[in-house]
Amino acid sequence: MERLIAGGARILIAVLPLLALPLPAEAQGRGPVRSSRDGVYTAVQAARGSDTFATICTGCHTPESHTGPVFMGSWGGSSLWDLFIYLSEQMPKTDPGTLSAREYLQVVAYILELNGMPAGSAELPADSAGLSRIRLDTAKAADAAIPINTRRRGES
Ligand code: HEC
Repeated sequence: MERLIAGGARILIAVLPLLALPLPAEAQGRGPVRSSRDGVYTAVQAARGSDTFATICTGCHTPESHTGPVFMGSWGGSSLWDLFIYLSEQMPKTDPGTLSAREYLQVVAYILELNGMPAGSAELPADSAGLSRIRLDTAKAADAAIPINTRRRGES
């Protein structure tokens, strides 16, 4: 839970400068939320992520540990930005932050692939605004269609 709160705070920091500008509602995070099922990464991106994972992450994790009900119980419904920031700041556990942003993004793409999300023709966006608007969906979360921002900030 702590990491989700930290992720939320970062989203806020990332969007604060944007709020000062008269941007379309979509750019302020109120626009349509994309699903991780909508072909949001490319197969090439995931293949590179797979290589990185095999080199750096497999000492401690199996690919399977980033799939299934336990993983989705932690991450389902979160934005890809939350996952990206978590990986960037916490992994690899003994040497956090040592991959490039591009490599972390490729690993996120690989995790999507592991979870059966279809690849598409455009790469995952490399910015907080784009990633914040893509929700990591399970079948259940997709059915419930909970917007990220409602879930994250509580709208209270
Ligand atoms: C030295 C061992 C080690 C390495 C290498 C490592 N991790 Fe981890 N990882 C952990 C531990 C331990 C945790 C449990 C959380 C914690 O202790 O911070 C974890 C947690 C995670 C989680 C959250 C798991 C969940 O179910 O919520 C993800 C995702 C993750 N790691 C991905 C990665 C990726 C991707 C890499 C490679 C870039 C990586 N890790 C490299 C040890 C490692």
